[in-house]
Amino acid sequence: MAFELPPLPYPKNALEPHTSAKTLEFHHDKHHAAYVTNLNNLVKDSPMASQSLEEIIKATAKDDSKVGIFNNAAQVWNHTFFWNCMKPNGGGQPSGDVAAAITKSFGSYDKFKEEFKAACVGQFGSGWGWLVGGGGALKITKTPNAVNPLSQGQTALLTCDVWEHAYYLDYQNRRPDFVETFLTHLVNWDFVAANLGKVR
Ligand code: FE2
Repeated sequence: MAFELPPLPYPKNALEPHTSAKTLEFHHDKHHAAYVTNLNNLVKDSPMASQSLEEIIKATAKDDSKVGIFNNAAQVWNHTFFWNCMKPNGGGQPSGDVAAAITKSFGSYDKFKEEFKAACVGQFGSGWGWLVGGGGALKITKTPNAVNPLSQGQTALLTCDVWEHAYYLDYQNRRPDFVETFLTHLVNWDFVAANLGKVR
């Protein structure tokens, strides 16, 4: 069974004016779709064709001879995760368990926001900013290209895609504005709460 491109969890214009339908059209229908197509071509007729995305990511993360498979598998996973990290009328401060975990780990929501923004803006070139769990505390990390927490033994709670294709049509070079808007208007804290429930 070949990997399939999951549909966006909302209509393409649902995140406007913060992320345009045009951006989601290119980002989901072209970029995300291409990773799915590439992955299927790369694993076709190999034992990996019957493995899960997570299994492939973990099996190839440290194998230089499988970097193409890792990059495409991880980018398929990362994008599906990223779409679910956003929702219309999202963003702002979380509540409940997520708010408590953020306060415990960072001191305050504002401190979390400052650190998350710094990671996203400070990622040189293409990559991802993450909030991850594990070991009793939440942490902020950034990764280059396709690398993700799954490949590093961490549980992803939230991510922001900081590849230029995520924001260039709407924000051009202004990555800090995109990240600020992501945090203020787009974050789906319900999804983060569901992920927090999986952290051991
Ligand atoms: Fe992307």
